[in-house]
Amino acid sequence: MTTTPTLATYALRDGAGVPLVLLHGFPLDHRMWVATAQALPEGIRTIGVDLPGQGHSDVGGLPESLDDAAEAVYRTLRDQGEGNAVVAGLSMGGYVALALAERHPGFVHGIGLVDTKSTADSEEARANRLRIADEAVNDQTIAPVLSMPAKLLGPTSILERRNLFPAVEAWIRAQSPTGVAWAQRAMAARPDRTRVLEEYDGPVAVVVGAEDKITPLAEAEHMVHAARDATLTVVPNAGHMSAVEEPAAVAAALARLHRRVTHRA
Ligand code: MLT
Repeated sequence: MTTTPTLATYALRDGAGVPLVLLHGFPLDHRMWVATAQALPEGIRTIGVDLPGQGHSDVGGLPESLDDAAEAVYRTLRDQGEGNAVVAGLSMGGYVALALAERHPGFVHGIGLVDTKSTADSEEARANRLRIADEAVNDQTIAPVLSMPAKLLGPTSILERRNLFPAVEAWIRAQSPTGVAWAQRAMAARPDRTRVLEEYDGPVAVVVGAEDKITPLAEAEHMVHAARDATLTVVPNAGHMSAVEEPAAVAAALARLHRRVTHRA
C-alpha cells in the first residue's frame, strides 16, 4: 500500500478566510513564490507547499504521478484543518492544481494557472523527460537541469534583472536527483486535463508572461477558452517565471481571483 507523504508547508502571508495555496514550478520549491506572496494585498492568508521530492518534502513511496502529488497536497492541507482553498500553480504547480481540481472539485474554490498548460506532453517532450530522469537516478546528478534558468527566465529578466538568474540557479541547485527524477516521470505521465477546465464551476485566472516560450500565450488562450469563467492576464516583460520576474503583476491577478471567490461565497 502507498503511504501519502505529508508535505512541507509554509505560511507565506497571514490573513483570514479561504487560503491561497501556491504550488511551485520545476525544478524549484516554494521559495519561487515568496516575492509574489509579499506583493499580495493584506489579509489573504497564503500557504506555500513543497511538492513531493522538492524542497523539504519527501517522495516517500509515492508513485510517479501528479494525481498522487495532488492527493498529497489535499491531505496535507486537510490534516491542517483546511476545508477549502484557492489553488494557484506555476507550470508544474499548475498541472498539480488541475489534478487537484479534478479529484476534489469541492475543495478547490478557485484555480490560478500561471505559465502552465492543460495539454499533455508531445512524445518527444515525454522521451526527453524520461531521459533526464534516468540520468538523474543512474548518475545521482541534477546536471541535466542546471541550464534551466536561461530557459525559465525571459530575455528582459536576463538582461535587466540580473539578480534573478543566480537566485533561480541557487533554488535549482538545492534540489535532489531523486526529486528531479520523480517530477520528470510524474509530468511525463500526466494526461491532457483540458476537460477539467470545461467541467469546473469556480473562477479561474490564467496568467502568462508575454516572453514565456515554454508554455506560451497560445496555451494560456486554450485554457481560457476551455474554462467556463476565466480571465486572462498577460504579464509584459516576463518569461516562464512571471511570478518571480514580475511578482506584483502576478499578485494582483491572484488577488483578483481570490476576490472573485470570496464574492461568490
Ligand atoms: C516548470 O516550470 O514547472 C516546468 O517548465 C514544467 C515542465 O517541464 O513542463
